[in-house]
Amino acid sequence: MCRKPTLNAFAFPFQCVSTERESSVARPWVYEQASNMTKLHAAANQYGRDISGGIEAEPAGVIALDSELAAVWELAAPLLRVRDNDAHTLYAVGLARALLDAHSEADAAVVLPAIMLHDIGWSQVPPSDVLQAIAPGGGRLDLVLLHEKEGARLAAGILAECGYDEAKISAVLDIIDGHDSRRDALSIEDAIVKDADKTWRLSPHGVDTVMDWFGLDRGQALRLCSQRVHGHLFTAEANAMARALSALESVTLWPQRQRLLNASRGNGVPEG
Ligand SMILES: [Fe+2]
Repeated sequence: MCRKPTLNAFAFPFQCVSTERESSVARPWVYEQASNMTKLHAAANQYGRDISGGIEAEPAGVIALDSELAAVWELAAPLLRVRDNDAHTLYAVGLARALLDAHSEADAAVVLPAIMLHDIGWSQVPPSDVLQAIAPGGGRLDLVLLHEKEGARLAAGILAECGYDEAKISAVLDIIDGHDSRRDALSIEDAIVKDADKTWRLSPHGVDTVMDWFGLDRGQALRLCSQRVHGHLFTAEANAMARALSALESVTLWPQRQRLLNASRGNGVPEG
């Protein structure tokens, strides 16, 4: 039902990964460490004046985690520590929120707990087997199915503990049980969960993570993620998001962009 969705406007949060230039000149190892972190504070104020008074508190597209879902997260997080699944989950929740903006017909009360809990079943698979389960060319379907079943079982307990709306729980569990192995989407809610999960791979955090799963350089990881995402999404909005993310990562790898990055690391020239 979700193969040919209608296209609506969409927005998605973009994570800006930047570098720490000043310290890298004298201490290059600091750059390597800092370049994997999201920049949270300005390194300078080149304009020289305070413009913060003109910034809105809650502009469109900037989202928060509501308290009900935050309570689910607190119970899920200990079960998501394998292979960076905790951070993956938070970013996937963000993407699902953005997709929900474009699909008012979808039930957010089903989508959001489903995406928050979809991977908790990996906690029941031996850590040494987790990457074997999803490795290109050597996947273990039995382990994929195990994490889906165990995920649904654990999610039922968490949602009950949180006092979640019982009328929604079975739909949430149906999505979790089959979220990787099922080729088709059961509903628009299932489609959004699947798309948010996959689209994450092309985010800066997704590419970083996949590099270390399989010992790939950034270009290899981008190509692997692109071939496993494009053509496999259900909604037009996720498709547009994924194309944009692939394009940005591609530009990062262009020699022209790399020369700019190398120049800024070496001589402190500001990045544009
Ligand atoms: Fe996932």
